[in-house]
Amino acid sequence: MKGIHVTKYGGADVLQYLDLPDPVPEAHQVLIKVKGASVNFADIKARSGKYHLGKKPPYIPGIDVAGIVLDIGQNVKDIKIGDHVIAFPASGSYAEKTVANENLTFVIPESINFESAAACPIVAGTVTHMLNRIAQINDKEIILIHAAGGGVGSTAVQLAKNLGIPKIIGSIGSLWKEKHVKEIGADAVINYADAGYAKQIEHLTDGKGVDVILNPIGGRTIEQDLQSLAPFGRLILYGKLSDENTRIPPGELYTTNKSVIGFSFGHYRRFRPELVNETMTEVINLLAEKRFNIKIGEKFALEQASVAHRHIDERKTIGKVLLIPEIF
Ligand SMILES: NC(=O)c1ccc[n+]([C@@H]2O[C@H](COP(=O)([O-])OP(=O)(O)OC[C@H]3O[C@@H](n4cnc5c(N)ncnc54)[C@H](OP(=O)(O)O)[C@@H]3O)[C@@H](O)[C@H]2O)c1
Repeated sequence: MKGIHVTKYGGADVLQYLDLPDPVPEAHQVLIKVKGASVNFADIKARSGKYHLGKKPPYIPGIDVAGIVLDIGQNVKDIKIGDHVIAFPASGSYAEKTVANENLTFVIPESINFESAAACPIVAGTVTHMLNRIAQINDKEIILIHAAGGGVGSTAVQLAKNLGIPKIIGSIGSLWKEKHVKEIGADAVINYADAGYAKQIEHLTDGKGVDVILNPIGGRTIEQDLQSLAPFGRLILYGKLSDENTRIPPGELYTTNKSVIGFSFGHYRRFRPELVNETMTEVINLLAEKRFNIKIGEKFALEQASVAHRHIDERKTIGKVLLIPEIF
């Protein structure tokens, strides 16, 4: 098969398009013909040797996929050849074929097109899990979504809108992304690089603050977020785009019942797959009922994976970026 191979950590040019051996499913795995794979920031970090769940080279990148089941291992019970699926694969999705464990493979109705399906597993799974299970947000609460122009951020804005959240504040670092973030449902947009954004949040919320914050940035944004958080608010830290370190003063939390919660969907996939199953069932229902369509910013052929990575490095992308081995 054709696929992308990484033989050393580095920049986008370490992604090589090569002839590779077909993966072979183990007893509990399925073999999937890849119809679409999304480019996630984890792939960028993995390529740079900075992803906490990343593989050592040589490896095939890609942590989610949509496709058709070509073969199944002898212990696979609930998935059959020909099923349309989304999955979190074991062998990397930047390829024409990949293998995934049955418990991280989810059958989807054929009415869901592969493009929408390929865009969603990581971002929609992450956001659904954060909003519903971790933040337990309700439809009277206000949310601040950082990096709202990216894959996870855009999906969070769209899903928060779906949940009926009355005020959605998005943040961006690249100012040209404001139009996009408003178009997909944010009521207001702030710049997370602005050292005074807590004041803006205060103004936008009539002094009440926000109830839930989704933050993949860290660094000095945490200080501003704690100022922006309402009593009983939940600040969810799910990434570290900034290299700065920060301190969280206990007095700012316990005195007003504020929480700071770390979240890794990858850690859930590894250690709590049964909870991932519940979340992915919710995601598939949303897609099947056409209540949600992820904003896809750019699509690339598989051999252009390095261009896709470069666009993300250069912060040129909005929404989700897809790789497509063949035209749908
Ligand atoms: N914990 C989890 O389970 C989980 C799951 C998925 C993703 N994540 C994390 O969530 C974050 C977003 O992931 P994603 O897949 O949505 O990424 P993405 O689509 O590439 O979007 C990333 C966004 O982050 C901002 N950004 C800040 N620093 C950046 C940098 N150095 N390079 C590129 N963009 C940068 C950009 O917004 P501006 O240009 O507006 O600044 C961009 O829109 C990442 O930190 C990722 O690791 C965590």
